[in-house]
Amino acid sequence: MRVLSGIQPTGNLHLGNYLGAIRNWVRMQDEMDTVVANADSATNGRSQCFFFLADMHSITVHEGREQRIRNVRDMAAALVAAGIDPDRSVLFNQARVPAHAELCWLLNGTARIGWLNRMTQFKDKVGKDREGASIGLFVYPVLQAADILVYNATHVPVGEDQKQHLELARDIATKFNTDFGVELFTLPDPIIPKESARIMSFRDGTAKMSKSDPSDMSRINLTDDDDAIMQKVKKAKTDPEPLPETAEGLAGRPEANNLVGIYATLEGRTADAVCAEFAGKGFGAFKPALGELLVETLRPIRSRFMELRTDDAALDAILEKGAAKASAAAEPTLRAAYDAMGLMR
Ligand code: TYM
Repeated sequence: MRVLSGIQPTGNLHLGNYLGAIRNWVRMQDEMDTVVANADSATNGRSQCFFFLADMHSITVHEGREQRIRNVRDMAAALVAAGIDPDRSVLFNQARVPAHAELCWLLNGTARIGWLNRMTQFKDKVGKDREGASIGLFVYPVLQAADILVYNATHVPVGEDQKQHLELARDIATKFNTDFGVELFTLPDPIIPKESARIMSFRDGTAKMSKSDPSDMSRINLTDDDDAIMQKVKKAKTDPEPLPETAEGLAGRPEANNLVGIYATLEGRTADAVCAEFAGKGFGAFKPALGELLVETLRPIRSRFMELRTDDAALDAILEKGAAKASAAAEPTLRAAYDAMGLMR
């Protein structure tokens, strides 16, 4: 089992990232301990978790130098605070491991424009201004495929919105293997949580919670203090109906569905169980309970984060050490890809 996932270090870690992906990263890191303990020596070396800050992807968003550096360190601190242990998992930033960019270039010969044209994230991000979009944004999914394939990752824990990129990575891997008659790349499986695959905005239950939403009220950030969390939950958009008796009654009520889903995920219960508890009560009663739950969950992570982000040297040391391990793991696959294509070095 080889686990890999990444996050863009733009802005803050938010509740969508945490419930959609990072909690699963931490779970899989723990699972990995058991896998490694039970593996024979032949497979032991392969079984590892790789988590990285996709700073090479973040060039698709314009940011100044200092801001980018701060963002990478902050996201590293956030991941460690959320439970990623750099001694058990390989934690690094992409720019320190050139194998990602190198393999991306090789895969640009394999990926088809038609495949990239179908990427919904690209279409959503560019809107009508396709001609004005950067080429980086267009080929972004090829770099993402390289991130995954260069480690021959088997499991990729992500939120629902990354599913299409994972399918593309599988298509690229299959075509490369076929075109060059090799069995080089492993086809990765996305690991998407059942309950929290898509956390929605607090302002609009039909839009996903996102770093790029201009309204800060739309999301809960890891850096929000207790008061801010309570305020955002209180102001979250809802409808005037009381909570239904079962989750079926949430159909057609996206905001209500989102808040109940978040509550259920945090408590490890089903949406049905949460509805049963609050059936007939209004959001005036439900929201303070949800706010408390969020505050209790996020407070310890926030306080570790605040502490970790004061020590840049320690964060850099973690990322450098992780990058050395990641480079060593990526090198054989990269070498084999050059060789399969007849590129002599
Ligand atoms: P990014 O930085 O947008 O998000 C990081 C992770 O958080 C998940 N996520 C959500 N899950 C549920 N509800 C939401 N509202 C929500 N918002 C974000 C994302 O699905 C993701 O798992 N392209 C990736 C980064 C990346 C990557 C990779 C991931 C680059 N290379 C290789 C996996 C493997 C991205 O932009 O994620």
